[in-house]
Amino acid sequence: MSILGKNLFQSNRSSLTCTYKCGNACAGEAPNHSDNAYFGDIMSRRGALKVMGAGAVTIGGGAALAACGSDSDSEAASTVGETATSTNQVTETSASAGESKKIEPVKGMQFEPVAPNKNDQITVPEGYESSVLIAWGDPVYEDAPEFDPNNQTAAAAARQFGFNNDFAGLFDHPDDEGRKVYVCSHEYSTEPQMLPNYNADDPTEEEVNIGIVSHGHTILEVSQNPETGELTREFGPLNRRITGETPMVLTGVAAGHELLQTSADPTGTKVNGTFNNCSGGVTPWGTFLSGEENIDMYWANGEAVTDERAAADLKRMGVVEGESERKWERYHDRFDLAKEPNEINRFGYLVEIDPFDPNSTPIKHTSTGRFKHEAGNIAIDKDGTVVCYSGDDQRFEYMYKFVSSEKVVEGDKAHNMTILDYGTLYVAQFEGNSPKDEITGDGDLPKDEAFDGKGKWIPLYTVTKDGSESHVDGFTAEEAAIFTRQAADEVGATKMDRPEDFEVNPVNGKVYAALTNNKYRGATGENEKKSKEDVMEYAPIRENKDGYVIEIEEESYAGTDFTWDLLLVCGDPEAASTYFAGFPKDQVSPITCPDNLAFDEHGNLWISTDSLYALDINDGLYAVGLEGENRGQTLCFLTVANGAETCGPIIKDNLVMVNVQHPGEMDDATFEKPGSNWPDGGDSVPRPAVVQVFRTDGGKIGVA
Ligand code: FEO
Ligand code: CA
Ligand code: CA
Ligand code: CA
Repeated sequence: MSILGKNLFQSNRSSLTCTYKCGNACAGEAPNHSDNAYFGDIMSRRGALKVMGAGAVTIGGGAALAACGSDSDSEAASTVGETATSTNQVTETSASAGESKKIEPVKGMQFEPVAPNKNDQITVPEGYESSVLIAWGDPVYEDAPEFDPNNQTAAAAARQFGFNNDFAGLFDHPDDEGRKVYVCSHEYSTEPQMLPNYNADDPTEEEVNIGIVSHGHTILEVSQNPETGELTREFGPLNRRITGETPMVLTGVAAGHELLQTSADPTGTKVNGTFNNCSGGVTPWGTFLSGEENIDMYWANGEAVTDERAAADLKRMGVVEGESERKWERYHDRFDLAKEPNEINRFGYLVEIDPFDPNSTPIKHTSTGRFKHEAGNIAIDKDGTVVCYSGDDQRFEYMYKFVSSEKVVEGDKAHNMTILDYGTLYVAQFEGNSPKDEITGDGDLPKDEAFDGKGKWIPLYTVTKDGSESHVDGFTAEEAAIFTRQAADEVGATKMDRPEDFEVNPVNGKVYAALTNNKYRGATGENEKKSKEDVMEYAPIRENKDGYVIEIEEESYAGTDFTWDLLLVCGDPEAASTYFAGFPKDQVSPITCPDNLAFDEHGNLWISTDSLYALDINDGLYAVGLEGENRGQTLCFLTVANGAETCGPIIKDNLVMVNVQHPGEMDDATFEKPGSNWPDGGDSVPRPAVVQVFRTDGGKIGVA
């Protein structure tokens, strides 16, 4: 099967996604205006100037690169120049020079890869089957009314499966061996697509309230077919919807701070709801973490905030002046910053939820910092110290880790749920080991044949049971926890290309992060002013549209030193700029815009993508080999419906699960004019849903 040679890479994420998912975060200028210096940058700046004189941005040899993410204001195709001059094309690409020696995939990856396609359905390898576990509107509680898309109410929506499921986790059931507990987040609402006859200029109160409760989480009991692994949704006492109205508590260093106090909560410790819950992580003590990501778009009248640091934070987060897109502020004062300037400071945290206690109050941990948390993923050091990794998903933002000062105690969930309140928050600083003038911007490997180097974790503040200490001049620990991006600027954090999932491979112990894309990286021409940094060894592609996967080796999880290596420079394998850890490029599946990460029991990395080639191929789930001759082998396991993003992968020995988010989310799509009819077919409205893939013969995933 050939997966090469097609012009696959042409289109953009739809503007509907831009507006409702991330508040057009990508359309404007990246909000990080800091001029923090970099220890690797300074010594090699002279070299950089030389290269800039040459100015060659050559992405040649094949298809134009993908534009992924919300790039509504950009040209899709970024092919500049016709001729490939890259050296790595010569050394790494054998596609154009005939077939390379076939390398057999390792266990976990032994399936026939799915070819790029535009199928308005789930496409899986031969011998596998897929089914929908639950979809938007399906009942979570037994008393939930049947879903009627034409007659929706907020009361019904609060009892049904929410919209745009993103993160997914699967737990063993605490007291029923025949069941498991599935959890997920509902990241955002897309009202024009969800609601009949929706008028974005004049939403009704009921429509606003449907949007609010369609956010949050679902906790769902499921039973499992012992033969195939397939799950079936059940009603059980653990079933729960968490919404944008569910009471939560704020804990940690900033809880109670005056910047967190509102008229409804003068204590600054209680908050209703959670929004834009993107990815997350399962903790070893039986809870899950959920990142509040693009929180900016829910608030109006940012210009009314006068506190200098708070106002700077609103700009950095991207809060609008005047009305918000969803106009929730018309019915709920808390979304109007002119009335409640501090409400937004209570969002942007990691939320911890106990799925086994349906009466538990979700916790927002302020000590792990406030930014656009993609997720939170846990590693535990040998001595029981807990480390939580988190990316801040915006162009030129940072990568963080929290190192606990308390130790995990097996069997003591109440204690373990306070662990993320005490410890030190660090931000990452990366340095390449090759001369700057060898980083050309077009993907040429430097002379040492690797984009690699070392890095340091820089502390921002430390919280213990005895008090807190800031490590940033001009910030208290509380201020650094609330305005974390600004504090990180002060210590010279490294600007990255949209850090998304960031987590430990339990088999090889290394830490992996997806860096989705950044079209303003080293941009020239009309976008030159939007570039906040030139190409660097850790971000070597100019106007990076396809993203990277970085592999990090920590000295210890709790330590401050690490080494790093770019595993993948994503994109069309025929493009000279791509790099698959040296694996023959004629044997890989094209992959772009890596977003969520997972690992199988064999230690392979699995990546779901967030790109949408509306015209050509759909997003998918890919398995990636990490060891030996298979390192960099990238095979597509499934693709999702038109307009959808693949999220929340779970890889078990006999089951793969993905969250199919925003199917049909095209530019001109509405409830009346859907961009997809998945999963119900006919002329139905598309529904975000949970998909599971299993083998018809009951065999193991990816094992021949
Ligand atoms: Fe919600 Fe960073 O994707
Ligand atoms: Ca190098
Ligand atoms: Ca994501
Ligand atoms: Ca995403």
